[in-house]
Amino acid sequence: MSTLTYPDLSPNSDFYSDVPVTYLTKKYGTPIVVYSMKRLYENISRLKSAFANHQVKIHYAVKANYNPYMVSRIINSGVGIDAANLNEVRLALLSGAKPSDIIATPNNLSGNELLKISQLGVTINFDHQGQMETIKNHLPETVSFRINPGIGRGEFAGITTAGHDVKFGISPRDALKAYDSARKCGAKKFGIHMMTGSNVLDPEFFKESTERFFSISCEISDSLGIEFSFLDIGGGFGVPYDLSTGPLDINRTAGYIEQNFLKYRNKGYFKDSDLIIEPGRYIISDAAILVSEITSIKNSEHKIIGLDTGMNTLIRIALYGAHHGIKIAGYSDQEYSNLSDVVGQVCENTDYLARNILLPDVHIGDPAIILNAGAYVSSMASNYNLLGTPAEVAIDGNNDILIREHSTLDTMLGGFLK
Ligand code: LLP
Repeated sequence: MSTLTYPDLSPNSDFYSDVPVTYLTKKYGTPIVVYSMKRLYENISRLKSAFANHQVKIHYAVKANYNPYMVSRIINSGVGIDAANLNEVRLALLSGAKPSDIIATPNNLSGNELLKISQLGVTINFDHQGQMETIKNHLPETVSFRINPGIGRGEFAGITTAGHDVKFGISPRDALKAYDSARKCGAKKFGIHMMTGSNVLDPEFFKESTERFFSISCEISDSLGIEFSFLDIGGGFGVPYDLSTGPLDINRTAGYIEQNFLKYRNKGYFKDSDLIIEPGRYIISDAAILVSEITSIKNSEHKIIGLDTGMNTLIRIALYGAHHGIKIAGYSDQEYSNLSDVVGQVCENTDYLARNILLPDVHIGDPAIILNAGAYVSSMASNYNLLGTPAEVAIDGNNDILIREHSTLDTMLGGFLK
């Protein structure tokens, strides 16, 4: 077992953000997602200072985690929002964002929904010309398109969102037609967007993809004689899910992106353009743990440890083959010596949280801690098998605050005909 540590977790995993894990499980039950606000703010300030040389606008991708408490704290830290649809736009507004601090990057929304977003004063990165034309008489002040720069990278194929065989965005050639059409519909201001994939730990990829993106943007500018008010390079900034993997070198990454941007600016492009990034995972993934309880231990061929959470809460493992570190509160690193599988309560054999990992000689009732639970965990959770979603608790200074209740049968059945 690695002796490397996870942010804010004590060496024996019995304290998180200085609060005993068993205090939290006794007070709130399990499963619970516990956030460290300290780590969240550290992530935001690290990003801000990496990109400080050029004033980059940060828009948090709310799909990573839409808990309103977290979203409002992120907005209060001076961060804008990237929203995928009208409901995410509404959440951003309810959490304190101004319409001008929100950009929507929707996928296949109806004209009606696009219209509502536009009428709220929110800029839209349209996926393609046809989507823009559904609201051609009510376009937002700034019209932007999502470009596929021809390359993509993501930790898994399912989260690679540019390159070949992806449903997103348009080629540079189609973009020429799309901007021309927007201009004919009366658009006067333009933006341009890409999102190439998620959880990338290699700064060189950001160097290559932004170079392509900026160069495509200049070609479009030259061909149509338009200027871009913003260039939005999407998110994708990765975090390690394995304690032996190093973090993304964010300063080097930011340095490459800024160098590429300034190269074109020095050639006379992007004079009044904002540079925008849309991180989701980088801001919130390692600012939370998912704490569950060991409910069963089966000593068969494989030692199978059962938890009171599983793929209903954390689908990433079954969906992509993702890895999440697991620690058991109260044991030292030396005690991680038993090969074990970790499973949940769903009636499917995809419901493994880990296979063949080293764990201590655990006991029923021990708190099992699943790492990197801030991003794409509760936002992707379901009620499959009528298993509820976890409660959520924020550790903010000296306070622990319940920021989402456990779901109950009643809340799960709300909306059904009785
Ligand atoms: N902007 C757009 C338009 C996006 O589609 C996404 C994520 C982001 C920003 C934020 O990407 P991030 O910085 O978090 O990598 N459910 C998957 C991740 C899917 C990401 C999809 N788009 C997972 O669990 O890994």
